[in-house]
Amino acid sequence: MKTYLLIMAMLLVSSAVGAIENYRLDKASIDPADTESLRRGATLFVNYCFNCHSAALMRYNRIGKDLGYDEAQLESLFIFTGAKVGDLMEIAMPPDEAKRWFGVVPPDLSVVSRSRGVDWIYTYLRSFYKDDSRPWGVNNAVFKDVAMPHVLWELQGLQAAQFNVLIDEEGVERRVITELELVEPGKLSNEQFDAAVRDLVNYLHYMGEPAKKIRLQLGKWVLLYLALFFAVVWLLKKEYWKDVH
Ligand code: HEC
Repeated sequence: MKTYLLIMAMLLVSSAVGAIENYRLDKASIDPADTESLRRGATLFVNYCFNCHSAALMRYNRIGKDLGYDEAQLESLFIFTGAKVGDLMEIAMPPDEAKRWFGVVPPDLSVVSRSRGVDWIYTYLRSFYKDDSRPWGVNNAVFKDVAMPHVLWELQGLQAAQFNVLIDEEGVERRVITELELVEPGKLSNEQFDAAVRDLVNYLHYMGEPAKKIRLQLGKWVLLYLALFFAVVWLLKKEYWKDVH
């Protein structure tokens, strides 16, 4: 009983601490059917993310097919290495070199929208803030002590964090971020930057399941087929059994 109570107490404390420390997530509100948004997102992805992160479950020509680019467009817009349009979206950076630079290997982003969720990524990419104690001079409100630099700083500018100091049950001081405030403007306004990140997240979501659109379209036909099939089978059953009863 004692152990049980202790475990319960620990769970309560840890969830309370979690609740204090978690920075709020903003809604990504993406529109997976918006091809223009996906196209803008794909362009942002290859220009700002693809030097460090691979997307090795995707092929370039899959983007071409789904977002309406021909081979020449794919080559000029998306391929900066010697890759062929049928190749997987792998990067040239060797993992051991990446590890030396960042301390960790930047993870493949093919299915990150499924592991993290779109709201988390949307908030993450907009929540870098100045922190001179970190190797890249920035930290992140939803990913504490992140090893990724603020690669979109030119677009967003630089934010500073405002903290609340809380004392937890054990008397330990905790600094909790309450607000991020733009201190150096970037090329885009707040609204424009949010829209750009929304496009990027839309694209990451699409990469997580490129076949989703087709699956949903196909699903309707499968259900219709099953309904018709059921009707036929039911009529057939009535026909077979009518002499028995
Ligand atoms: C200069 C290299 C670099 C670039 C460019 C870069 N990242 Fe990262 N990214 C990293 C590293 C390193 C990590 C791992 C961070 C850690 O574990 O502390 C990371 C982590 C992430 C994560 C968290 C993954 C997870 O589930 O833990 C996401 C999401 C992400 N990056 C998205 C992006 C997006 C989107 C872009 C383009 C706007 C981008 N990154 C550009 C280096 C980079």
